[in-house]
Amino acid sequence: MKTAVIYYSYEGNCALIAELIKDALGADLIELQTVDDKKRQGISKYFWGGRQVIMKKTPPLKPYTLNTEAYDLIIIGTPVWAASPAPALNTFLEEQRISNKRIALFCCHAGGKGKVFDKIKSKLPGNTFAGEIDFINPAKQRREEISDKLNEWLRQQGLMPRL
Ligand SMILES: Cc1cc2nc3c(=O)[nH]c(=O)nc-3n(C[C@H](O)[C@H](O)[C@H](O)COP(=O)(O)O)c2cc1C
Repeated sequence: MKTAVIYYSYEGNCALIAELIKDALGADLIELQTVDDKKRQGISKYFWGGRQVIMKKTPPLKPYTLNTEAYDLIIIGTPVWAASPAPALNTFLEEQRISNKRIALFCCHAGGKGKVFDKIKSKLPGNTFAGEIDFINPAKQRREEISDKLNEWLRQQGLMPRL
């Protein structure tokens, strides 16, 4: 089974989960990066990001290579911004129009994921969903605990390859 992990990460948490999935499944990683890659700090980060969500912005992405036909499973990951997927993910979903795929979702958040998975799924009609998992700021947790939680989920969903 060939798996792609498509993710956006502003501060490294979703990037960590993507790497752990790569370790577990041998997946290809496709990182979505916005053309505007300036890092905001402190409270202005939340105003800047929250405003993009409210305004339904689709910030331009840097070029990436993806042939969805090459994959049996696509895992999509995003940080939660204002109880929504990060705007970069909206750009991706508008650009790609993925259909007839098996898709799993993950998100990273600080304790309030809202209806982020429903919001993503509503933009991916015509696909089958293989499961979803969320993490609270995993880069601040013990790596083994995060890895165990992830691997247990992959096993439960039948996504882990048999030895
Ligand atoms: C603009 C912005 C908005 C956020 N909104 C939420 C939120 O609504 N709920 C929440 O639990 N965390 C929120 N967070 C925290 C992030 O979702 C969390 O730190 C996540 O682990 C970051 O993932 P990343 O490191 O891959 O970017 C927000 C962070 C930013 C920058």
